[in-house]
Amino acid sequence: MWWSVTVLSFLLNGVCEAGITSSFIRVAAPSIEIPKEDFPPPHGYNAPEQVHITQGDYTGNGVIVSWVTPVEKYPNFVTYWKADEKNGIKRNRVRSKITTYRYYNYSSGYIHHATINRLQYNTKYAYELGHGNGTRQFWFMTPPEIGPDVPYTFGLIGDLMKIDTYIGDLGQTHASKQTLDHYLATKKGQTVLFLGDFSYADVHPFHDNEKWDTYGRFVEKSNAYEPWIYTAGNHELDLAPEIGEYVLFKPYKHRYRVPFRASGSTSPLWYSIKRASAHIIVLSSYSAFEQELTKVNRSETPWLIVMMHSPMYNSNNYHFMEGETMRVVFEPWFVKYKVDLVLSGHVHSYERSERVSNIQYNITSGLSTPVKDPSAPVYITVGDGGNIEGIADSFTEHQPDYSAFREASFGHALLEIKNQTHAFYSWHRNQDNVAVSGDSIWFYNRHFYPKEESSSKG
Ligand SMILES: [Fe+2]
Repeated sequence: MWWSVTVLSFLLNGVCEAGITSSFIRVAAPSIEIPKEDFPPPHGYNAPEQVHITQGDYTGNGVIVSWVTPVEKYPNFVTYWKADEKNGIKRNRVRSKITTYRYYNYSSGYIHHATINRLQYNTKYAYELGHGNGTRQFWFMTPPEIGPDVPYTFGLIGDLMKIDTYIGDLGQTHASKQTLDHYLATKKGQTVLFLGDFSYADVHPFHDNEKWDTYGRFVEKSNAYEPWIYTAGNHELDLAPEIGEYVLFKPYKHRYRVPFRASGSTSPLWYSIKRASAHIIVLSSYSAFEQELTKVNRSETPWLIVMMHSPMYNSNNYHFMEGETMRVVFEPWFVKYKVDLVLSGHVHSYERSERVSNIQYNITSGLSTPVKDPSAPVYITVGDGGNIEGIADSFTEHQPDYSAFREASFGHALLEIKNQTHAFYSWHRNQDNVAVSGDSIWFYNRHFYPKEESSSKG
């Protein structure tokens, strides 16, 4: 095969280039939580709030619409129609399933989840929730039909919670507001791949679940209009036996729904979807989901993307080596099935790896150094949404060879899939102008075009 020569020379080269530790100094900003008053509920009686959507089936013809009504259960339906219909608007209605929960001394509003099925591809739909002066309207675009050369752009955000910084483990801080606004200002993203750590309610006394509500209001301006593909993070665990809360992921599972059954998963914590030209697998710690990798048809969806909260390759002292147990389990599969990208959050900084693997290591071989591997994914950590824990600015003293670029900043990334062989990737500090990218690279598809990439770094 023509490319085997390239691959061989690639292997012989080994890891010889030093990575970049960015000298960019982020303008200091305190990780101050945005006050609750900055996220008021919408006007109107019983107005639906915290509206968010995600893909509702395996293939992108479905959407799950979720919202909260604070006072009454009803109306419990979503009305939707084709936004650009010329000859008389045909309105459809889907009833929601309603859930509520209590957490310590907090009682949730009525949480609605409605799954709209059989939508047409590449179509703009409007939808309406509530009634009377609490009526609210939104819209979304369905993805194009699945196919190998379908261009599509994903936004990559993690760890976002409301602080005065940016997107990545998404705490509600000013940084996170900056990240979200910055992402929206690019107007390029069509769907967000969200890498976990939502509200950071758990860092507050008694896991103050009002933080989940303000978080839902905070991200609505994006998440009501474009699907976010959710990965659960450690801040979604909400295990607190000291206050009588023993159920793992209780607030998260009540508030966020994903189409896990459609991909044959038994848990909402791991599942898979196909969207445009990408097959996306969401993993959770210790979820042995190899069967999904065997189902991927690269001729249909060439781009194979894995999302998991905790990174496997990360050279920040913060959470260093936490992903090691997952690496031992998953890495041989990632290489075997030629995963293109593995996306993570959790560590509150930015890092991109070389294509490396460490699968030759076992107890007796002693081969513990990662080596360049053209079949390996690139590992990207975008745990830099802007969270209350602040930036993780302590990288390991020596930058490991597997680390191509790293920087202690908040930001988001864009993955612009162009066709079955090429995708343009860029990472954007939230303090920069929208057009500026802090790191960028053309990724080549591992299945169809496994050539070595070169970044524009430095
Ligand atoms: Fe995390």
